Amino acid sequence: MLAREIMITELPIVEAGAGSAAIAKEMLRLKTSHVLVVNDGGTMLGLVAGLDLCRALAEGLDNVTATEIMTPRSNLIVAYPETPLVEVPLTLAGRHINQVPVVEGEIPVGYLDVSKVLLYVAEKEKNELVNSRRASLLINSMREGVVVVDKDYRICELNPAAQKSMGLAEAVIGQQSKPYMVYGSPIRRVMETGEPLYNIEMRSETGKTLLTNNVPIINNGSIEGVLQTFSDITDVKQMHIQLLEAKEELDKAFALTLPNSRVEKKLKNTPEYRDVYNEATGMIEVTEVIEDGGYLHVINALKVAADLNEKGMMALLGLDKDILVQALIFHDVGKSQPALNVGQVVNPHEVFEQGEMHAFRSASIVEKFYDKSQDVVQLIRYHHHRDEDLPGSFPHHLLPMLRLLRIIDGLSAGLTRRSARIGFSANGSRLTILENNGHPDFNRMVEIDLYTGQASVYNDKRGRMLKQGALRN
Ligand SMILES: [Fe+2]
Ligand SMILES: [Fe+2]
Repeated sequence: MLAREIMITELPIVEAGAGSAAIAKEMLRLKTSHVLVVNDGGTMLGLVAGLDLCRALAEGLDNVTATEIMTPRSNLIVAYPETPLVEVPLTLAGRHINQVPVVEGEIPVGYLDVSKVLLYVAEKEKNELVNSRRASLLINSMREGVVVVDKDYRICELNPAAQKSMGLAEAVIGQQSKPYMVYGSPIRRVMETGEPLYNIEMRSETGKTLLTNNVPIINNGSIEGVLQTFSDITDVKQMHIQLLEAKEELDKAFALTLPNSRVEKKLKNTPEYRDVYNEATGMIEVTEVIEDGGYLHVINALKVAADLNEKGMMALLGLDKDILVQALIFHDVGKSQPALNVGQVVNPHEVFEQGEMHAFRSASIVEKFYDKSQDVVQLIRYHHHRDEDLPGSFPHHLLPMLRLLRIIDGLSAGLTRRSARIGFSANGSRLTILENNGHPDFNRMVEIDLYTGQASVYNDKRGRMLKQGALRN
């Protein structure tokens, strides 16, 4: 708050030659204990306090003038309209003053009642104290660690959570922090660039993994320090590593079903691509290369088959688990993929071979070199054919298995290329599959009867039926 906001503007004023009676009258008129003395031009010459007048009268000086008993301007403390009130008490230290004139170019425009100023300042300080107590209570009770360092990397703030995670004592407050100064540390990067850094992982000296947010403290355009908040994610990280290890174990277990190292090598050298499709141009842009995509595709397909087996699907008459597993392992062994790079924009019809081509090739390889049953060979040969395009010679008894193979193939492609999550339920020959993908366009629910081939596909995003009829992967 500024002086002009609480100054009293009704001024007790007398001229330089005013006598004691005139001074007393003016005091009585405005019920003040002082008058300001001004010259003809209105410039302030000084101030007569009630005590000055009493002293003169007590000494028998009845005919004094204002200028004779006033405190002259040169000895007066004054404020200006724009003076912040909090600064006023500092200027009054050690002096017995009850009012402070406010001048503008030496013309009095008001005066401050010192008791009011002190009341305002005391109230403000009390509020600040309450606020800072509230802030420190909040900071101290936070589960997240809070650290503030100044521009010389000295620690200014450190809450109990930070002390615990970093194994630091409160005594480090005021000390320079070496780890924060290290080139490339998030705090140093923020200090140097002025740009905040979020979700940065750090290792504490006690070996904990911390996820940090780092924001600059900027005052008047310059970086004064950095505020870092962090949470201890050691347990979460540990769990993540364990999950990854468990997944690797599972992958290894499935890999054991692969017939020999040559098949494994072929699959591991067949890339798959993540891409975005441009509807307007019909082109795709490669966003990620999955080097061992062919291998992951088979592993995921075997996992889906294991899930379906658990749900009792393989007990259906006409399905043979062993034949299906063999067909899944070999179905894409003859696949030939183009070599593409991230960012490359291509026409998928030009660069990717038709599915039927690799299906035929895979079937021939299996027939010739792996001595598999005709059922396995036929399933592989036609895994990219729609029901209505199958040749008349295709064995009827294989139809339910071919349909299931195509479903598993499609779901595995979703798992491998779109990080999909899937769920199934089986009811006799009817199978319901829910597919939830990173991209809502691929979300779908499929209901298929493996015996008749009748299928309904619903898109989860719009909840409406997309198509009904024979399903193709
Ligand atoms: Fe295929
Ligand atoms: Fe496939």
